[in-house]
Amino acid sequence: MENVAQPGQKSGSNHVTKLMQKSLQPLNLSQEQLRQVKGRMLEAMERGLSQREEGKATMSMLPTYVRATLDGTERGDFLVLELSQKQVRAVRVQLTGIEQQQVQVQDHAYDIQEKFLKEDGKQLFSFMAKCLAKFLDSHGKTQTDFSLGFSFPFHCHQTGLDHSELISWTKGFQCPGVEGEDVVQLLQQAIDQHCKRYHIRIIAVVNDTVGTMMSCSSGDEPCEIGLVVDAGTNSCYMEEARHVAVLGENEGRMCVNMEWGSFGDDGALDDLLTDYDRCLDQESHNPGKQRFEKLISSLYLGDVVHHILDRLVSQGGLSGGIITALPTRGKVKTCRVLEILHEQEGLAKAKSLLMELGLEGSDLDCFHVQQVCQAVCNRSANLCAAGLAAILTRIRIARELPQLKIAVGIDGEMFRKQAQYSHMLKQKLKFLAPECDITFVQSKDGGGRGVAMVTAAAARLFAQRQQLQSLLNQLHMSTENLCKVQALLRREMELGLAKETNVIASTRMLPSYVRSIPDGSERGDFLALDLGGTNFRVLLVQVHSQEQGGVHIFSEVYSIPPQVAQGTGTQLFDHIVTCIVDFQTKQGMMGQKLPLGFTFSFPCKQTSLDQGILVRWTKGFSASDCVGKDVVQLLREAVKRQQHFDLDVVAIVNDTVGTMMSCGYDDPNCEVGLIVGTGTNACYMEEMQNVGTVEGEEGRMCINMEWGAFGDNGCLEPFMTTFDQTVDKASINPGQQRFEKLISGMYLGEIVRHILLKLAGQGTLFRGQASPALQTKDLFPTKFLSVIESDGLAQRQVRAILEELGLRVSCEDGMMVREVCQVVSHRAAQLCGAAVAAVVEKIRENRALEQLEVTVGVDGTLYKLHPHFSQQVKETVKVLAPCCSVTFLQSEDGSGKGAALIAAVACRAAQQQNA
Ligand code: BG6
Ligand code: GLC
Repeated sequence: MENVAQPGQKSGSNHVTKLMQKSLQPLNLSQEQLRQVKGRMLEAMERGLSQREEGKATMSMLPTYVRATLDGTERGDFLVLELSQKQVRAVRVQLTGIEQQQVQVQDHAYDIQEKFLKEDGKQLFSFMAKCLAKFLDSHGKTQTDFSLGFSFPFHCHQTGLDHSELISWTKGFQCPGVEGEDVVQLLQQAIDQHCKRYHIRIIAVVNDTVGTMMSCSSGDEPCEIGLVVDAGTNSCYMEEARHVAVLGENEGRMCVNMEWGSFGDDGALDDLLTDYDRCLDQESHNPGKQRFEKLISSLYLGDVVHHILDRLVSQGGLSGGIITALPTRGKVKTCRVLEILHEQEGLAKAKSLLMELGLEGSDLDCFHVQQVCQAVCNRSANLCAAGLAAILTRIRIARELPQLKIAVGIDGEMFRKQAQYSHMLKQKLKFLAPECDITFVQSKDGGGRGVAMVTAAAARLFAQRQQLQSLLNQLHMSTENLCKVQALLRREMELGLAKETNVIASTRMLPSYVRSIPDGSERGDFLALDLGGTNFRVLLVQVHSQEQGGVHIFSEVYSIPPQVAQGTGTQLFDHIVTCIVDFQTKQGMMGQKLPLGFTFSFPCKQTSLDQGILVRWTKGFSASDCVGKDVVQLLREAVKRQQHFDLDVVAIVNDTVGTMMSCGYDDPNCEVGLIVGTGTNACYMEEMQNVGTVEGEEGRMCINMEWGAFGDNGCLEPFMTTFDQTVDKASINPGQQRFEKLISGMYLGEIVRHILLKLAGQGTLFRGQASPALQTKDLFPTKFLSVIESDGLAQRQVRAILEELGLRVSCEDGMMVREVCQVVSHRAAQLCGAAVAAVVEKIRENRALEQLEVTVGVDGTLYKLHPHFSQQVKETVKVLAPCCSVTFLQSEDGSGKGAALIAAVACRAAQQQNA
């Protein structure tokens, strides 16, 4: 009794004050300590997420397979079965427009008889199914098809949204035959047996924290964190799926059930534990476990208060003390602690508590009891805030946001009974997570309504995925179909090469009058023009011997404004000449008349190297009075219109040919030129004996296939989708360049845009809303595909691109858009590969070789910039032309260099003729 102070003594009141301070001081965590807790929580999260097998880390961080929060478009009738200790509750939730809060809930709870807790599990599941049938019979009206969510709050190993094996029963359940089994399957079987009038599919099995999070979501503001502080405590949040190692996925988000109650079980909180906590833990049924929970949740707070009061009594800290110890544990319930914190009635409640404990409490005692309760609650809120701050910071960093605005769904006794609790959390979060703007939303019926929301969001996502898949299936190219395309092109090639059938062939197979690839003896200074790709270039190409440094290029890029490309021929060629004059002036070459090679990337019928009759415009050009005319002549006339200026055009070259020649300078095996840029086309070295459209049988000639027009005779119709038809119809050359419109950069963005419009129109994307920008032609350029499909590109960046177009984009939208891009560009690459296979196979057969080794020189922005296109072309060629070993060599210098080399050969030939 020596420590017991005598009531009324002055020294005694000093003693009590000191004692109070000493007792409560360890509960008072400094800002620094809370920061440390936050840091350790972040580490524990990381460890839990990176474990490859569940259950190896202190904090499990369990994937819940809940991938989506509500987006507001969910509609329909959803069922929930909620199993709890004493009852089975059947809930029917009708969603008729979440944004307007049109949620109707009907429910009924059925008591579970004691015997079901112990009898064979089948009985329990049958009972649940029968309850459901009874519920539906009385509430079901006419509807018979339902999606169901199963609220099953036990420790499970979940491997899918609808697959969860019970690890062990708790809460008084002991039914044999369920542990180790998939509870969804057990319930589904029981439902199928007992609810025969209905067709019910279980979509999700859900943990209570997830239900809390989901019940707080609205379409406008998704709630992405769930926090429960009740008898137990736990939290869940939307994590980037790529960070959850057990999933092995790269895309999207998933709700992770942290099981944060076990934080600290590895000793991470030991330095913060007080003697009270240690005693409490030792007395608990699970010593050493759930350390965080024991500091926070309502199951334990009453006990902590009890331990502190016990200590105070034994040391004379409470003046009414006539006993040395309080009655044994369990007398102080957390609900009493919370009552004592009440502003008006708190002191009276403290008094009655003390009375119950056998103490005649003075006013000061009551005040001290209140202080104890306050300190214990504060610590709970502070630690909870530190944990929550870790989640917020993790989310903010993963999303690379300077500021995170987020809603947190909360539930549990602590929030319901202690209005101050969420306020205290908020205060602490101000300095623990200052970059976050948090709204707390009180959950309403997480186990029923919330689980129904999970089910609704999952059902919505499932339906969206199916719609997306069925649409994208139309673009799928089987190997069989690719072989058909290859064979069709081969046929068109033959038709185009033969004199008699050339006119009916869709691929014109135009002779280029280039008969060999460079041999390295070319020399001199040349001008080159490169017109028809993304850039119009004027170049000075100096071809020296290898010893003198090989080829040097000086060039300038000029723009061709659309009004010039689509104006009159005179305007176009005058503009070209103006650019040449500018270039020569800049290079100090005015007055010099160098030989010029003209890369003109449009189909031209040639009768010699320096003459080319334009067959048709392609790629958005439509300058009048050019088709059917000799382009070299048009250029010469424009030169004449310019005074004091002259040019010596010696060769007109298609860009494919220029590219092949340019690459051929470095690799003598290069006998194919390929372009996949604004347009697409290829050329290759054909045997003269096969070229019916040019006299002579000897040697080879480079043939400009103009494969962009492949299919203009309708032969590709079976492989086209409605989107291809739409893009074609809206183009300036409907019915023309049909193959090009499936492959090249000018059109892929448009195909994607039309698919996105369709998906938005049917409600699969963007919550059914397409922005004006998405409805505008060419506002989704192909370069978006290259960016969106880049590996490692954060979803945030994908969404930023789409948001620029005025779209409201969810995480799933971002993923689906990426899938659309992937399918469209993959089809393009496969078709391109099939065409290359047709070409190399023909070369191999021409030469009667078992195996052909050949290099393809390639240029074009799509091929060069898209992250996967080139690889997919190669893979397709490997499959479709197995007897050809094909090397793809990217042209570094553009086709202007090739045009200059062709000009060089022509000049040498002319000189030899003149000599
Ligand atoms: C360039 C060539 O590098 O690629 C051009 O020099 C060619 O001749 C072009 O037309 C094709 O790619 P894009 O993407 O510019 O159309
Ligand atoms: C278009 C042109 C063709 C060119 C190709 C690549 O298909 O018609 O001549 O080679 O685009 O630029």
